Parts: sequence; C-alpha cells; structure tokens
Amino acid sequence: MPSHISDIINNLPAYVPMRTLTAAYIEALHTLPFVAKRFMTAGGDSTVFELEYGILKLSDLCYPTQRSFDIPRTAEGKIVVRNEPPAYYIIQPRTLVDVSDKDVERAIRIIEKPGFIVTDPEKDNFGYYNNRVFLIDPFAVETAI
Ligand SMILES: Nc1ncnc2c1ncn2[C@@H]1O[C@H](COP(=O)(O)OP(=O)(O)OP(=O)(O)O)[C@@H](O)[C@H]1O
Ligand SMILES: [Mg+2]
Repeated sequence: MPSHISDIINNLPAYVPMRTLTAAYIEALHTLPFVAKRFMTAGGDSTVFELEYGILKLSDLCYPTQRSFDIPRTAEGKIVVRNEPPAYYIIQPRTLVDVSDKDVERAIRIIEKPGFIVTDPEKDNFGYYNNRVFLIDPFAVETAI
C-alpha cells in the first residue's frame, strides 16, 4: 500500500542504518511528494526506497552529476535542515537487475574511458532499462585523476 515516505521511514526495522535520516530529515521529507511503496535496502552509500513511480535514493554524499552511463534520473535534489549537513536524493526508473556477466563486462569497458574508473564493479550496480545496461549506483564510478 503506498504511503508517505516519512511513514515508511518511521516504521523501519531497528537494524536499518539511519545515519543521515535524523528526525529533522524525516520531518523535511514531509514536504516532498514522495509516495513510497516500501523500503528496499540500505547499502554502503544510499538508503533505497521503491516509490509508486521509481526508485528513491537518499544519501549524505552528493550524487555525481548525471553522466552518459548513469541511468537517467527523473528528479534529484538536496534537503537542507538547519544546523545539520545536507542530505541528497535522486529518483531513478526501476530497472531489471540481474544483469549478465557479459553485459556487465561490456558496460565497464564502455565506462572506463580516460577520466572514469569503476571503483565498484559489482553486477548489482547495473540494471537493464530500455534494453540497455545502465549504471544504477552513481557512486560505483569515480572521476580518475
Ligand atoms: N533503479 C533501480 N532499480 C531496481 N533496483 C535498484 C535500483 N537501484 C537500486 N536497486 C537495488 O538496490 C541495491 C542498492 O542500490 P545502490 O547500489 O545504488 O546502493 P548502495 O548504497 O551503493 O549499495 P551498495 O553499497 O550495496 O553498493 C541495488 O543493488 C539493487 O538491488
Ligand atoms: Mg551499489
């Protein structure tokens, strides 16, 4: 049953790490029109929710600007609460996960042109969308210096 994201966060099991999602943020999320279906997962960088139309990721890290290999975002923004560091969010389409090893290898080869490095080449950072493989975890590719 869809409900507001803040209700879902308030009912999360205690084991979910809520490092960025302090009470002040949950309050701030009330002002955003995020109709959520469920909590999906809390990874190393993002806390992931399924929305009615897409996947919402929240992080205390700033998401890199959209690149050609990132799955196109339908929204992104920054949540600022007084006296606290900002939180960031992006909304992506839901992808089919379970990308084949061959398709992951090909996607990595395409991404790793000079300037980019795939720092987390795990297959669960990729997904199929519109019959193409996209990076779904923006933090898995960094700018090479
Ligand atoms: N757009 C999407 N469509 C479908 N599933 C998704 C999507 N984005 C994320 N997921 C699921 O949520 C998981 C975690 O997402 P993501 O990798 O972006 O977060 P993370 O914090 O970097 O996690 P980790 O530290 O495990 O890499 C993915 O491995 C995938 O199973
Ligand atoms: Mg990841």
